[in-house]
Amino acid sequence: MAVLFLCLPPSPMSLSAKPVSASRTTLTELMIPSYANFGGKIHGGILLSLMDKAAYACASKHAGEYCVTVSVDGVNFRQPVDVGDLVSLLASVNYVGRTSLVVGIKVIAENVKLGTVKHTNTSYFTMVAKDDNGKPTEVPPLLLETTEDVRRFLEAMKRKELRAAYGEHFDNAVTRMQLNQNVGKLQSERCQLTDALQQELS
Ligand SMILES: CC(C)(COP(=O)(O)OP(=O)(O)OC[C@H]1O[C@@H](n2cnc3c(N)ncnc32)[C@H](O)[C@@H]1OP(=O)(O)O)[C@@H](O)C(=O)NCCC(=O)NCCS
Repeated sequence: MAVLFLCLPPSPMSLSAKPVSASRTTLTELMIPSYANFGGKIHGGILLSLMDKAAYACASKHAGEYCVTVSVDGVNFRQPVDVGDLVSLLASVNYVGRTSLVVGIKVIAENVKLGTVKHTNTSYFTMVAKDDNGKPTEVPPLLLETTEDVRRFLEAMKRKELRAAYGEHFDNAVTRMQLNQNVGKLQSERCQLTDALQQELS
């Protein structure tokens, strides 16, 4: 039995859904010596900048509008990237809200001489589409065509839920923090307080 499943009910005024495949983007760049840090590996900031470009290209293709980066999740570089590697950033829209969209970016680094490929990280960029007046504007719904598209959409929903719960907890913890009640927690940490500070907080 065929099941037709739409995430948003269509209305005469609403934008029509666009498939994930229509905005899928790959950005490939050679890691040149000027991208390296003093240890001879590629600066994390270079990769972040490339990821931001890939996210922008993918998000704006889907939205048909100028997009801005709002937040980034999951930036953990698991392996270093070397000078001479060919880095590819595979970007696709994982989720759409009303004006926001989440672009998942898989970063792989290829050593063309050795024929080896490393998966360095997968990160998630939340982007917001803006209209000509700089106001957030509605993006088209996402047409999910494969089980992979469905998995990514559901996982993005889960991350959004977890981020909201974390944000609430984090805000409460910060506002409730009393220095003199919590300063004892620093005893087992690798930091020192000046004598004057110790007196002030005791
Ligand atoms: C992001 C921004 C547009 C939100 O503006 P706002 O007036 O709060 O607008 P809204 O509350 O309507 O939020 C718009 C969307 O952003 C989402 N959003 C806002 N803050 C967010 C955050 N920290 N993380 C994830 N999504 C966020 C909202 O959930 C909403 O999504 P939805 O429409 O899909 O439900 C605004 O803060 C902004 O322009 N920030 C600067 C972004 C920028 O310039 N980035 C480039 C780097 S300097």
